[in-house]
Amino acid sequence: MKLLHVDSSILGPGSVSRHLSASIVAQQQALHPDIEIVRRDLATDPVDHLTGLHLAAAQGAVPESGALQADVAAGQAALEEFLAADIVVVGAPMYNFGIPSQLKAWIDRLAVAGRTFRYGANGAEGLAGGKTVIIASSRGGFYGADSQAAFLDHQETYLRGVFGFFGITDIRFIRAEGIAMGEAQRQQAIDSAELEIRKLAA
Ligand SMILES: Cc1cc2nc3c(=O)[nH]c(=O)nc-3n(C[C@H](O)[C@H](O)[C@H](O)COP(=O)(O)O)c2cc1C
Repeated sequence: MKLLHVDSSILGPGSVSRHLSASIVAQQQALHPDIEIVRRDLATDPVDHLTGLHLAAAQGAVPESGALQADVAAGQAALEEFLAADIVVVGAPMYNFGIPSQLKAWIDRLAVAGRTFRYGANGAEGLAGGKTVIIASSRGGFYGADSQAAFLDHQETYLRGVFGFFGITDIRFIRAEGIAMGEAQRQQAIDSAELEIRKLAA
């Protein structure tokens, strides 16, 4: 059994999503002592943004520069790592109502026709089903369905959409909200997310 642990917060050790993703991984390790953990830190080791040259290389053109060759190989490695995982834990803060650009750049390497999805006679079909994705979501404000700002949530809605598009049906969110609204609210949000993590084991 393999678990891929991905983080994308740029805030280092003070990051709430990193704290929660680590807690989820520790819990999964306790539940499955033989689980193999693969780590990907997109803040310290980002994948490059896609360019036309990447797409040409993916379609069979031979990359001219060594740097591009290395980056194409890194993107393919990221895709294989994702496909091989049974459980994917993603630390995903909300930045400017969406996800960090580092996380988006990683997802751009996963969205490969014929590997994670394909278009057929019946439309789009996901090819990467059968895994569990657990997302540690942190955000400064409140964006729940009953909040006034719900329409600004392009973070969880996007992640649910794109992993669903890849065919993944088991997508769970552990959420800490109101992180920017004072120390008491921050701590309460973390405590309540930790409680939700414990329930994952049930
Ligand atoms: C660059 C940046 C952009 C942010 N944009 C938003 C935002 O649009 N909405 C929001 O509610 N909080 C926003 N925040 C607050 C973060 O979502 C919040 O601090 C969260 O805890 C970040 O996750 P982290 O602690 O794992 O880095 C932003 C924070 C940063 C650093």
